[in-house]
Amino acid sequence: MSILIRGGTVVNAGGEQQADVLISNGKIVDVANNLDAPDGGRVIDAGGSYVIPGGIDPHTHMELPFMGTVASEDFFTGTSAAAAGGTTMCIDFVIPAPQENIVEAWKKWRGWSEKAACDHSFHVAITWWDDSVHRDMEILTKDYGVNSFKHFMAYKGAIMCDDEVLGNSFSRARDLGALCTVHAENGELVWRLQQEIFDKGITGPEGHPLSRPPEVEGEAANRAIRIAEVLGVPLYLVHTSCIDALEAVTRAKLEGQRVFAEVLAQHLVIDDSVYRNKDWRFAAHHVMSPPFRPKEHQAALWRGLQSGMLQTTATDHCCFCTPQKEAGLNDFRAIPNGTNGIEDRMSVIWEHGVRTGKLTPSEFVAVTSTNAAKIFNVYPQKGIIAPGADADIVVWDPERSRTISAETHNQNIDFSIYEGMTVTGVPAITISQGKVVYEDGELKTVRGAGRYINRPCFPSYWHNQMLRNELAEPTSVER
Ligand code: URP
Ligand code: ZN
Ligand code: ZN
Repeated sequence: MSILIRGGTVVNAGGEQQADVLISNGKIVDVANNLDAPDGGRVIDAGGSYVIPGGIDPHTHMELPFMGTVASEDFFTGTSAAAAGGTTMCIDFVIPAPQENIVEAWKKWRGWSEKAACDHSFHVAITWWDDSVHRDMEILTKDYGVNSFKHFMAYKGAIMCDDEVLGNSFSRARDLGALCTVHAENGELVWRLQQEIFDKGITGPEGHPLSRPPEVEGEAANRAIRIAEVLGVPLYLVHTSCIDALEAVTRAKLEGQRVFAEVLAQHLVIDDSVYRNKDWRFAAHHVMSPPFRPKEHQAALWRGLQSGMLQTTATDHCCFCTPQKEAGLNDFRAIPNGTNGIEDRMSVIWEHGVRTGKLTPSEFVAVTSTNAAKIFNVYPQKGIIAPGADADIVVWDPERSRTISAETHNQNIDFSIYEGMTVTGVPAITISQGKVVYEDGELKTVRGAGRYINRPCFPSYWHNQMLRNELAEPTSVER
């Protein structure tokens, strides 16, 4: 079935143009002026709207088993909520338990994701090490479309990697042509601070940010960057939340290292005052790691995004409802870490980024879609409106407003960290694989329609930084 999107402003990361977009069989077939409507096909009038590539959220956790419970959003509800917000692809995480076979874990997650409504892919976490992990990383890259491995430097006693595992996995990823990603927080320090703070009698959610100060993130970010530099592997930092980590990224980039960094929409707009709220539930709803930071960090993160030091925006969508959060009523250390946002990311960034003049519409497309597509190697299948690309498209209405609320959102969680925020700029229509999946407030997603997207590894020149430096002309010294 064909669709013609007529009269909109097509926005790609490379620029804007007035053009019609013709879609057929799930693909974009033409982008040009005065295209003819297909026989029997639908014509969408996009006059006054932007026509943008579907959002790509490179960091989500649907139905994740974590901290003694399971995230409330499943792959169907989560990808449906994503579509309502203009996101048509997410990259979720397979997180094997220590000693769990990593290929079997991938298969388990893939079983869960069969119900996804939109396209998705998986990073795989390396949480332990032996010869089978070394072997199976190659199997995942060759047979399961995995080109990125995740490393948690926090969550001691659960899924944390020590430096030995980091070194083993980074080296193996380099040899396979895969990308390493890290959750950068020093897990030893977090664990120590958590005990100290709890022993002082601070048991509520206000203890959470105290146990995870920016220095803890900055140290781990810098350590991961240096390990990646020495081992010659590209690195991607997830949820960069503070100046300390941003400075480490900036320094590495200025030194020519291939480092990428992501920022979460919520870290750009919410500060740490949420943890001082007298309502325990409100504060607990915001417990996530890294935590929300003092306001000056937000300003720096926006500048990081504007300057290209941060390339992608994500949500870390990891939903736990109020009764799940209450597991930590008497001990902040037991509050499941995670917040919502997959439905809200695009509008929050449009409202606070584009409407304030910090980002142009093209820059918005870059940080919500194109950059993630490039970094994770699904470009130009995704992340661009051009002939041959998948027809994952949003007709974006820059004038329409929505006030975000758990009462009306599509996410499977009983609160929203953005409750009461009004955003102007929302999807009028979301198209996934050439089919309308959301239109004027109504979801039309189909359970199981989402495909798993294979992501091939990278060409070897991505990984030869050390080699390149070694091969550089030796400077002769005059004596
Ligand atoms: O608090 C968070 N971010 N929960 C999900 C797991 C992670 O650290 O990404
Ligand atoms: Zn994390
Ligand atoms: Zn996460």
